[in-house]
Amino acid sequence: MQRLEGKTALITGAARGIGLAFAKTYAAEGAVVALGDIDLPRAEAAAAAIGRQAFAVALDVTDQASIEAAVAAVEHRAGGLDILVNNAALFDLAPIVEITRASYERVFSVNVAGALFTLQAAARAMIRQGRGGKIINMASQAGRRGEALVAVYCASKAAVISLTQSAALNLIAHRINVNAIAPGVVDGEHWEGVDALFAKYEKRPLGEKRRLVGEEVPYGRMGRAEDLTGMAVFLASAESDYIVGQTYNVDGGNWLS
Ligand SMILES: NC(=O)c1ccc[n+]([C@@H]2O[C@H](COP(=O)([O-])OP(=O)(O)OC[C@H]3O[C@@H](n4cnc5c(N)ncnc54)[C@H](O)[C@@H]3O)[C@@H](O)[C@H]2O)c1
Repeated sequence: MQRLEGKTALITGAARGIGLAFAKTYAAEGAVVALGDIDLPRAEAAAAAIGRQAFAVALDVTDQASIEAAVAAVEHRAGGLDILVNNAALFDLAPIVEITRASYERVFSVNVAGALFTLQAAARAMIRQGRGGKIINMASQAGRRGEALVAVYCASKAAVISLTQSAALNLIAHRINVNAIAPGVVDGEHWEGVDALFAKYEKRPLGEKRRLVGEEVPYGRMGRAEDLTGMAVFLASAESDYIVGQTYNVDGGNWLS
């Protein structure tokens, strides 16, 4: 049985990585999936590879007009919006005394404001439709505690966990469930940039941090995007109707809460 039959999903930042894995899985579970990304050519190629149940939409989550146009495009093309995955995010890293205002604003405009205002636009559409909905925010183990070099990204993901709780309490009256997933370390292109930043600031050879974080996971390896898809389907399906404002760690045991 397909668990998302008849549903329409918008996944932000779905051109690659975790968002793309979610898009493939949602389509396999019967949903029509819109891949929203600032990298439209890549989102289009990814959607074409998934097949006729998927399509790409141009989306910059830092731009209000772009958010509203993307949600409207999904409603128009697919006849509604049932599921939003707020997945687009940026990472940066620096010691406290070297953090720049530009870095802070870039990270918070995507990870926090982007998540909030995309959630808002999706919630407005879901309320208008009157058939409830599912909103899944991508948090992180980084949102559970600080890290010496990762203050801004950690704070942005702590904000995502908090926004998940407030939005969930506000929207459940409309039968819109808002929950979050907190991954640990998930291998993919994202980690090329992360590893290079750690190499610079911790004076390590390239690739060493990536190897070490994998070795430190209690499960014994880094996560793969596919390790998260089960939770993403569960939180998008009717099986999670009574779950409100939770953040689930899917991290091989990195963080216990
Ligand atoms: N990979 C990890 O180790 C890890 C760990 C914990 C949490 N997460 C979270 O999971 C999510 C996905 O991570 P990933 O590793 O697949 O990331 P990724 O960097 O591989 O993909 C992010 C996507 O977001 C898109 N994007 C960036 N800015 C955008 C904008 N302004 N508007 C629309 N799209 C934009 C990018 O083009 C890209 O396709 C993120 O929220 C991330 O913070 C990842």
